[in-house]
Amino acid sequence: MFPVLEKKTYLNNCAYGALATDVVQALQHYVDDRLERGTDWNYWVEKNEGVRRALAQFLGAKEDEVAVTASASAGINSIASALDFGQTRNKVVIGDLEFPTNAQIWYAQEQRGARVIRVAEEDGYIPVERFEAAIDDDTLIVALTQVCFRNGARLDMPAIAEIAHRKGALLLVDGYQGLGSIDFKVTDYQPDFVVGGMVKYLIGTAGIGFLYVREALIETLLPTVTGWFAQSDIFAMNTSSYDPAPNARRFEMGTPPIPNCYAAEAGLKILARIGMPAIEARIVELTEAIIHEAQAAGYSLAVPTEPGRHGAMITIRTHDENALVSALENQGIVTSGRFNNLRIAPHFYNDHDDIDTLFGALRKQRHLLV
Ligand SMILES: Cc1ncc(COP(=O)(O)O)c(C=O)c1O
Repeated sequence: MFPVLEKKTYLNNCAYGALATDVVQALQHYVDDRLERGTDWNYWVEKNEGVRRALAQFLGAKEDEVAVTASASAGINSIASALDFGQTRNKVVIGDLEFPTNAQIWYAQEQRGARVIRVAEEDGYIPVERFEAAIDDDTLIVALTQVCFRNGARLDMPAIAEIAHRKGALLLVDGYQGLGSIDFKVTDYQPDFVVGGMVKYLIGTAGIGFLYVREALIETLLPTVTGWFAQSDIFAMNTSSYDPAPNARRFEMGTPPIPNCYAAEAGLKILARIGMPAIEARIVELTEAIIHEAQAAGYSLAVPTEPGRHGAMITIRTHDENALVSALENQGIVTSGRFNNLRIAPHFYNDHDDIDTLFGALRKQRHLLV
């Protein structure tokens, strides 16, 4: 079902999920459909709608609350473009653990009057009290990563959501490193916005993402980053006004990433079949085993080890991430590195043999580990 697993010890789901046979076949179906149908715009629109339906189910949201985007960046940009930073509430609170895109886009809004406040980490984590201090009556939006791409730290989102909402601020969650590994529904703590993408734990492909927008907010937001697929009637071909869709489709832009829709739908179907509670339980079991092995070997962990403070990615400090990642690759073990952290990221299809293989190989590279 995941051919790469027969050849490699694949522990790099924080970068790419493993490609399933079903996803390969879905991509092939795209080609077959093009060859058979020639042109069929309605069929393409239906493909986009299929992904929206699957995402709504996955997120515990309504279909009208989900926009299918080309990337997480596209979703964040759409929201940023709809916010008014010309009021007293013009502060954007981000954290030290952001993936670059969720910092860069907000800093770009400084040209439109935003003031960006970045909350500092402490030993690779950001305690909730720091958000209590940073979020105030001037805060328009709090935009944070659920799980950090560098060290795997997982923020206490329910507590942060409570603080943001108590103080009248919006909350955007960048769920790219969490969704598909954490059993999450938007009803858990009611964020206002969630963005993510399909190439990692959602096991689809690159070039497709999504944006969830809480229903009550949709009609209050008018994105200025837009396009014809965001209009009320896509095929009205209206060139005399801006007429955004009444639902979250108003946050979409141009022609949808159709080949990627085929892959995304297939990936989401696999996750739905197995179920997120089982997937999360499996990942917790494997990550706890990785932490245990690393501690027993005396390696320096960069990720907070307390349960609930890390996601699917466990990180070990190295003196030379490139040398370590390629030494492992030479032994058929796929990992990745960032900021001198070795990133080990299992998914539901990994097992304890993978962990044994990895730690056997790490023992031979002790000189590269801190
Ligand atoms: C936390 C996080 N956010 C966002 C992205 C990527 O966003 P985009 O879909 O805009 O490329 C990544 C990719 O590595 C990520 O880890």
